[in-house]
Amino acid sequence: MNLKLTDGSLLPIEMHKVRIVQKTSLPPIDDRLKAIEEAGYNTFLLRTRDIFIDMLTDSGTNAMSDNQLAAMMVADDAYAGGESYYRLLDAVGDIFGYKYCLPAHQGRAAEHLLSKVFVEPGKVVLMNYHFTTTKAHFELHGGKVLEIYCDDALETKSTNPFKGNLDLDKFQAAIEKYGAGNIAFVRMECTTNLIGGQPFSMANLRAVKELAGKHGIIVIMDASLISENAYFIHEREEGYKDKSIADIVLEMTSLADITYLSGRKSTCVRGGFIATNNEKFFSAIKPWLPVYEGFLTYGGMSSKEVEAMAVGMREMVDINVASSSADLIKLFVEDMDARGIPVVTPPGGLAGHIDARKFLPHVPSLQYTAGALTSAIFLVSGVRSMERGTVSTDRDENGNEVEADVELARLAVPRRVYSVSHIKYVVDRIAWLYEHRDLVGGLEFIEEPPVLRFFFGKMKALNGWNKKLADAFKADFGSEV
Ligand code: F0G
Repeated sequence: MNLKLTDGSLLPIEMHKVRIVQKTSLPPIDDRLKAIEEAGYNTFLLRTRDIFIDMLTDSGTNAMSDNQLAAMMVADDAYAGGESYYRLLDAVGDIFGYKYCLPAHQGRAAEHLLSKVFVEPGKVVLMNYHFTTTKAHFELHGGKVLEIYCDDALETKSTNPFKGNLDLDKFQAAIEKYGAGNIAFVRMECTTNLIGGQPFSMANLRAVKELAGKHGIIVIMDASLISENAYFIHEREEGYKDKSIADIVLEMTSLADITYLSGRKSTCVRGGFIATNNEKFFSAIKPWLPVYEGFLTYGGMSSKEVEAMAVGMREMVDINVASSSADLIKLFVEDMDARGIPVVTPPGGLAGHIDARKFLPHVPSLQYTAGALTSAIFLVSGVRSMERGTVSTDRDENGNEVEADVELARLAVPRRVYSVSHIKYVVDRIAWLYEHRDLVGGLEFIEEPPVLRFFFGKMKALNGWNKKLADAFKADFGSEV
């Protein structure tokens, strides 16, 4: 929640008390230099003992509530027919309005099952934007992924409140070009991750559903970040100010034929599921569930997480939970913007994003602009962010590099984990780095995996910029921090 202070400014205030804490420490600059070198300039390969503030992701790293933890204690571990599943089913019915639910161990497992049933060679999958695992699964099943986002979706500096909208003219053109029968489905990703956590509007989702329905095309919604998308509809779309997040979520799910999610985000657990009201779809996916995940009533999830997910579903439609990271991100992005740091605007729903091409214009994409920036941020602050650029874009089928549409450093804000003082520290160190950006250079692969290379790839810093940056930092702050 944002509380207005006496001077008129907004303070994102925590609507919860902290009752359990986890200790962190800030390793000094020389230790950080050694750690990032050993990690091959890939923040995925850092150990958490070397990290002060972990903004790699908001996935599985959120603070759980007392009621979620309490629910875990009554988990029913039966292999089949466990009561935990039925409590999740009730929550899916109440919150999403769906009759059927197929749990899976996480979001990408749901994507795998959907690919298995709906994607085959020659089929086209339309979407507002891809997510890395989504694209990998659909392509591994022979599908062609076509992103039909709005023309300004990739403009990092923008005032468009709904950059996650799907372009309806491009949708119509795709139907004419490929034929509705060759379109596996259209996928709408809530709070579109890779373009900076940007939402779509209800009006857009409704129009997508109408056009898809006219041509018999299935609408699948990726609801991993649904509570944040609903919060942005509440805040930014005309006619939704007086509706509750619960009503907005229900309206969204009513416009999708199938909804799936990674439960690691909005629901604050570790798991995932596919849900629908369509008996035919449910029956087509169900036989594959025990093959890849587990029996229908746990789907590869721990039953403790199933219980916590049922509670998390109900909690995420409380506006104070839905807004908990979005309001902090707003402060984060606006503070960086005020200091001239090139950030993605409007503020999104899972992270503060920095436009690395504008931050480091002298580092070309093929020297991994965003990868260099995330390494430099770690070096000067102990803050771990994630590269979302060319390192995260695999080579094409001929082995050629593909320059990413955008080079972003993503600083995720896990729900209810960090405070305003953490955010202020991060902004301060990034502002210092921006002043010293000329010192940051590019990277070069020394170990490059064949698929999703950003997870395990290792790089080296070109021309020793790492040491020059560390020396400049020590000159200003000393060696202790
Ligand atoms: N869809 C979206 C929109 C996601 O953001 C993610 C994961 C997935 C699907 C896959 O779900 O991780 O549970 O298998 N995003 C994480 C991130 C990894 O850091 O943004 P998963």
